[in-house]
Amino acid sequence: MNSCIATVAQMDGTHIVTVEGMQCGDELSPAQEAMRACHASQCGYCTPGFVMAMSAMLERHDQADARTASNYLTGNLCRCTGYAPIVEAALTVRATERHSVARRYSDPQSITDSIASTKLSMLVEYDGTKLFAPVSLREAVTFTAINPETRVLGAATDIGVHVNKGKPLPTSLLSLHLIPELYETKLTRTGVTFGSRVTLAEVRRVSEDVAPEFARFLNLFASPQIKNVATLVGNIANASPIGDTLPFLLIAGGEVHVASRQGAKGVVRKRKIPMTELYVGYKKLSLVPGEIITHISFDRTGAKDVMSLCKVTQRKDLDISAVSGAFSLTLKSRSAGGKRKTAPHVVSARIAYGGVAATPLRMPEVELALCGELNQARIESVALLIAGSLKPISDVRGSASYRRVAAANLFRRFGNEVLHG
Ligand SMILES: Cc1cc2nc3c(=O)[nH]c(=O)nc-3n(C[C@H](O)[C@H](O)[C@H](O)COP(=O)(O)OP(=O)(O)OC[C@H]3O[C@@H](n4cnc5c(N)ncnc54)[C@H](O)[C@@H]3O)c2cc1C
Ligand code: FES
Repeated sequence: MNSCIATVAQMDGTHIVTVEGMQCGDELSPAQEAMRACHASQCGYCTPGFVMAMSAMLERHDQADARTASNYLTGNLCRCTGYAPIVEAALTVRATERHSVARRYSDPQSITDSIASTKLSMLVEYDGTKLFAPVSLREAVTFTAINPETRVLGAATDIGVHVNKGKPLPTSLLSLHLIPELYETKLTRTGVTFGSRVTLAEVRRVSEDVAPEFARFLNLFASPQIKNVATLVGNIANASPIGDTLPFLLIAGGEVHVASRQGAKGVVRKRKIPMTELYVGYKKLSLVPGEIITHISFDRTGAKDVMSLCKVTQRKDLDISAVSGAFSLTLKSRSAGGKRKTAPHVVSARIAYGGVAATPLRMPEVELALCGELNQARIESVALLIAGSLKPISDVRGSASYRRVAAANLFRRFGNEVLHG
């Protein structure tokens, strides 16, 4: 994880291992030794981060292939080396049992102490900010009922960035990290529900089966350091029009489950809000004061559905989207021996975009226009309809006209992939 945007309170009940703990006595760790041997450090500013990323890689992979290595290195930048020696270090390094972080830092007593510390609610007050971490949902909604201005703290990968930019820390924070039920994942025949504490890394893993295109898309989301801690619910509640998961959730029957306190007795009131009704303005949610998000659910991708999720960024990795698109079609096509005989027929369509308005958008009129035989003329007319109906803004990531063209082109590419295979 990235320590620069984490709060100390989030470390409650955890065991922290920093780069200082990698070396065994006078002996460098395998990652440190590989960095040295490959001359992968020049000014040294980035070196601790790369050592930690490689050490995390070695906990899971004795030896990394090129894809694994580049995935683990994605979250770190180097201004000096040009990366080649760092990649070489990641490809040549080998895990050793003796240096395994899990083996070296698994003292049973400290694990017992950490677990014990997660059984009690915690209130920290410091410098005008109070942070409450309850062990039950009931306590959580009682706190937000009494302090309706409270901000929920997920993994702070959005909030932490704002604080680092000098924005004031909210005066009342609620961390849900001690509530066990919010870590649950429930799979059903038709969909999946994730608790608000489930990380994006876990969502990606589960989605490989439930919504494979979403899992693939999450590979492009941030870096392992971010996905290891950041939550899907944080991405939803941050309500940025360019939040990468939102177009998918809009077309996949996404629903947020919210809870608040009802009456003075502290009864927990629960309700569900469809994703299509969640965003009511720029960074504004249709939650009422005191409500918190407890879960998010979405549908399994159907066997007859063709889905594509894409984003337009200046850099492939670790970049904020200018425009993102989510497309899903349910098709009926007559085929002979696995080969399509006639043009595909669109039974129903679902289309959503991010980065083209103050909120992420689902586009029902466009979806209707796409139903029927899919051919080149229909793809072109729907692309023009998309470009004509969007009213994006211009900002540093792209002008309004660039965004309109990009949104239409994302659809053209998807339509042509479906039509021509
Ligand atoms: C290096 C880096 C790369 C990133 N890359 C991407 C990217 O590729 N795509 C992308 O979309 N985003 C990206 N992000 C943004 C961020 O990681 C995501 O939005 C993430 O999902 C936020 O989750 P979190 O748990 O850290 O939320 P937090 O920062 O803790 O919270 C975000 C917002 O959600 C609210 N919130 C959190 N939980 C709840 C809840 N249970 N109920 C009500 N409100 C709640 C908080 O109050 C806050 O307003 C990146 C961030 C960084 C630092
Ligand atoms: S060695 Fe200087 S930034 Fe990487």
